[in-house]
Amino acid sequence: MSRTGARERWRRRAERPLETSAAIQKDMAQTMSKTILVTGSSGLIGSEAVEHFDRKGHQVHGIDNNMRQEFFGAPGDTTWNLDRLRRSTKSFTHHHLDIRDRVALETLFRAQSFDLIVHCAAQPSHDKARDIPILDFEVNALGTVNLLEATRLHCPEAVFVFLSTNKVYGDAPNEIPLKELETRWEYARPEDYDGIDENCRIDRTLHSLFGASKASADLMAQEYGRYFGMKIGVFRGGCLTGPSHSGVELHGFLSYLVKVALSGAAYTVFGYKGKQVRDNIHSYDVVRAIEEFEASPRPGQVYNLGGGRENSISMLEAIAKIEHIIGKKLNWNYVDENRKGDHICYISNLARFRSHYPNWSVTISLDEILRQIIGNQRDRLPAQNAGGSKRV
Ligand SMILES: NC(=O)c1ccc[n+]([C@@H]2O[C@H](COP(=O)([O-])OP(=O)(O)OC[C@H]3O[C@@H](n4cnc5c(N)ncnc54)[C@H](O)[C@@H]3O)[C@@H](O)[C@H]2O)c1
Repeated sequence: MSRTGARERWRRRAERPLETSAAIQKDMAQTMSKTILVTGSSGLIGSEAVEHFDRKGHQVHGIDNNMRQEFFGAPGDTTWNLDRLRRSTKSFTHHHLDIRDRVALETLFRAQSFDLIVHCAAQPSHDKARDIPILDFEVNALGTVNLLEATRLHCPEAVFVFLSTNKVYGDAPNEIPLKELETRWEYARPEDYDGIDENCRIDRTLHSLFGASKASADLMAQEYGRYFGMKIGVFRGGCLTGPSHSGVELHGFLSYLVKVALSGAAYTVFGYKGKQVRDNIHSYDVVRAIEEFEASPRPGQVYNLGGGRENSISMLEAIAKIEHIIGKKLNWNYVDENRKGDHICYISNLARFRSHYPNWSVTISLDEILRQIIGNQRDRLPAQNAGGSKRV
């Protein structure tokens, strides 16, 4: 039902004198209900978005073909999360569909109009892209254009949020002067204290193929916002995390670190003396940011989105913190070679998002994030195939 049609129906019903309050409430709920499409709905951010918008009474459609398993093998299998969503939601429809498949997308968009599209499906790993450059580009760049174009043709008034990444900046953030502290690298100049903002350049840097495919999608999403005036927001994520991550060696830093710590397997830290810094944001706070943008969209706008300084942590600090929480030493070793193009110290500057959306804030602390991940991993550990090393 269109929103205008629903509003008119609600007005007519409300005018009838004998209407019961229960019926009116039901109609109000229908009036407010939106139809939302979430891609990558079995993944970390996608599943959080599905649950959140379902709880709010919206009709939620999810697209996911469990390609995370194809990228990362059995530990990347997201079936457990889809099963969980099926149990926990009221109005969720799952579509086992590939975002590279333009015809299938066309069929879906012809059958169903959407008010909000949350695009999370991706090949998400920096390192993995090196082995599968064509597949990485097809999923990340072309898959995004397929969705943008389907939206333009079938529901151009919809709000569209694209989950981009801080890897679009390539290694440019490493040019900022740093000082070495006991357990972490730190920005040397006071003006850099709050981290990297959206003015950081995205070209003439080393991205990794993943960073380049996401930068292509990031630019196309901006273009659909600016050129066509569509309500598109681009969120460049720091480390997005939470208990619903199917953490694997090549993606999902905290989730995988916890998995290895609990299983007793070995963990390898690569380069920068283990003092590399990441800012971590819980998937709930990401979805809250999407919700704020949806309520008041700014076409073509770009935002850095991470946990900010308060939720930043270095590799050494993360190991110590996890050891403390689980009461057990982690079996880890160090290789003195950093990953190509890896960030040394990356903290998302959240000033732009905060100024445009003052109702939003980071609500879940790093300690709470870790507690939730540990609780979830403890429950799931027997079913998992943990082990190996991890590059952050
Ligand atoms: N997690 C992070 O640290 C992080 C950081 C920065 C940016 N991001 C971006 O945020 C988004 C969500 O990340 P996430 O951590 O939830 O990833 P995720 O891997 O947990 O979820 C992505 C989902 O997309 C699905 N998928 C992959 N290819 C598909 C295809 N062709 N068709 C349909 N479904 C497909 C996967 O099966 C998976 O369930 C991604 O775009 C990612 O690049 C994530």
